[in-house]
Amino acid sequence: MKGIILAGGKGTRLLPMTKITNKHLLPIYNEPMIMFPLKRLINLGIKDIMIVSGKGHAGHFLELLGSGHELGIRLSYSVQEESLGIADALKITEDFADGEKIAVILGDNIYENDFEIKDFKEGARIFLKEVNNPNRFGVATLNGNKVIKIIEKPTNPETNYAVTGFYLFDETVYDKIRKLKISDRGEYEITDINNMYIKENKLDYKKIEGFWSDAGTIESLFIASEFIRNHEKRKM
Ligand code: G1P
Repeated sequence: MKGIILAGGKGTRLLPMTKITNKHLLPIYNEPMIMFPLKRLINLGIKDIMIVSGKGHAGHFLELLGSGHELGIRLSYSVQEESLGIADALKITEDFADGEKIAVILGDNIYENDFEIKDFKEGARIFLKEVNNPNRFGVATLNGNKVIKIIEKPTNPETNYAVTGFYLFDETVYDKIRKLKISDRGEYEITDINNMYIKENKLDYKKIEGFWSDAGTIESLFIASEFIRNHEKRKM
């Protein structure tokens, strides 16, 4: 399985900090944000990881992480020409994936624990977390052990299950991306991909244990930093 970290986007919800740098290079307490999703993939034993960022700051990721040698991994880099959403960023990783399954993590998602991936065979897997503010996320409706639909940022969420920013996909994801239409917010949505897998009855889910937050708003960046600070102090 190959790993992909999506670290593009304009980071408009973090202005003015993102005026001069990429969101994923901002600090979460004691490290640049991207280190946290990177460590999650490394903990899964994934050795080949591609970082997709936008134009402008791509070189900064290379300066920070280099070849990956120090971390015992191989890093590749790619650039998304325009900020057209998560599924658009994924499109340019097809040659890198080279027919293997992929683990995709959003560069601003901070998780306390590792993921269950060992029994994943085909289709897609998403990772859910109950939250108090589901309307900020993709929201999953469940029926027993099945996800029946996902709605991106619903005004009136049917459940509290946020779809977090870690996904497993088989190689059919790239054909699905080619069928996507741009959404009302002007992006190619990962939620539309997941709904295609649901239609094929090929999507399963796991619930996340422990802390999870994105860090894409000023408030959530602070909450994630506070969590990592407390976590680091507990280790001392
Ligand atoms: C994206 C996804 C959304 C998901 C969220 C997790 O939202 O579109 O489904 O719940 O990441 O962080 P965005 O950060 O683009 O608003």
